[in-house]
Amino acid sequence: MSSPAHPPSEWTPSSWQQKTATQQAVYPDPELARRVVAEIARLPPLVTSWEVESLKDKLGSAARGEAFLLQGGDCAESFDECDAHTITGKLKVLLQMSLVLTHGARRPVIRVGRIAGQYAKPRSTDTERRGDVTLPSYRGDLVNRSGFTHRDRTPDPELMLRGYERAALTLNFIRSLADGGFADLHHPEYWDLSFVPHSDSSDEYERIVTAIRDAIEFMEAVGEVRLAGLGRVDFYTSHEGLMLFYEQAQTRTVPRQPGWYNLSTHLPWIGMRTAQPEGAHVEYCRGIRNPLGIKIGPGMTAEWLTELLDILHPDDEPGRITLIHRLGAGQVEAKLPALIETVQRTGKTVLWTVDPMHGNTEVTEGGLKTRRFDNILEEVEASFEVHERMGSRLGGVHLELTGDDVTECVGGARGLSEHDLERAYRSQVDPRLNAEQALEMVMLITRHLRGHRSSGSSR
Ligand code: PEP
Ligand code: CO
Repeated sequence: MSSPAHPPSEWTPSSWQQKTATQQAVYPDPELARRVVAEIARLPPLVTSWEVESLKDKLGSAARGEAFLLQGGDCAESFDECDAHTITGKLKVLLQMSLVLTHGARRPVIRVGRIAGQYAKPRSTDTERRGDVTLPSYRGDLVNRSGFTHRDRTPDPELMLRGYERAALTLNFIRSLADGGFADLHHPEYWDLSFVPHSDSSDEYERIVTAIRDAIEFMEAVGEVRLAGLGRVDFYTSHEGLMLFYEQAQTRTVPRQPGWYNLSTHLPWIGMRTAQPEGAHVEYCRGIRNPLGIKIGPGMTAEWLTELLDILHPDDEPGRITLIHRLGAGQVEAKLPALIETVQRTGKTVLWTVDPMHGNTEVTEGGLKTRRFDNILEEVEASFEVHERMGSRLGGVHLELTGDDVTECVGGARGLSEHDLERAYRSQVDPRLNAEQALEMVMLITRHLRGHRSSGSSR
């Protein structure tokens, strides 16, 4: 059984164009946009249908409690930061986090980056005003440029081609790292983030690494062989499927598999701003066979969610839907139970994960966007508790993070304060956990996973 193995006859990769598409770039030269889409459509896909299906399988096992999803990366990638240092930093921190989670939870961790295509952002207003000047909002490097001039802000379709190329370069480097010696579990020291200074979490991390190394050495000594499969890791990509021309361009059929795949990423997600059941994004997503993420904010209603599952999850295919709730620490108790009940009433299985970042954004007196480590942790902990209480299961976490030593979120063991934020605030969009805060966060999350290892049912 599979979702749209045979997409409804009226569906095509471009049928979304008949619907209302919010948050899209308005190109001054639509003919150029069409040419760019046609060019990307001719170029090789970034991922394969096998990888997409294998991720879907794994997400299905996470929904049954047999694996845990770790999804993380930048709020928005930038073309300027498509460099070796930034990419290895993100991979290192995600590998370290997954090691801690696997060790603590004793179950496989599915690693999914917000990477290799996370170039477009939904905006609350179409325009930005500074003084007397009003220009189109910056929508991410896939659409326009952040400078505040008419030229920068005019959507340029060529940027989709640049985004496709950057995504390919990023993915090429990640694949080499993940397949080569870099990700070898025999050598976790390769993933060390040299700038992370001594701390309780770095001590704990060292203990975990030593324990794992001892276990591997023991098994290899007993078996007198080198354990296969430890030399590489699986790593998947995801981004918000926002700019539908870009997504359409990479939507393909493949030999010997029915249906259509979005081969620009393994796991596209729909943001709530674009999740109207009658809208273009839902129309596009219903026809592809990829696993899908759906963001769920405090404004989600039972009717809306039920309708989305009717359209996007008609056959209850394992691994098809990941619901990513992002309610804010203070709203979990009030909103999450009804959402869980709604899904339980449909009788369908989904993978539930929490994004504890987007509901906890605040602005400092100095005007910087930040998030408090304690609120992020509180949202994760409250989510575990509510799911468990309701016979459901939280099977993953979705974080905005970077491998760099930035100061964007306050709190954590090092006690970053609002004064520290100016030291290394680099995000153009949302504040990210730095590597140390991210590692500390999973150490704390792991405590819950230990306690919840065998609890809950799949619905
Ligand atoms: C995001 O994930 O970067 C994002 C914009 O989230 P949300 O749509 O949930 O606010
Ligand atoms: Co964000």
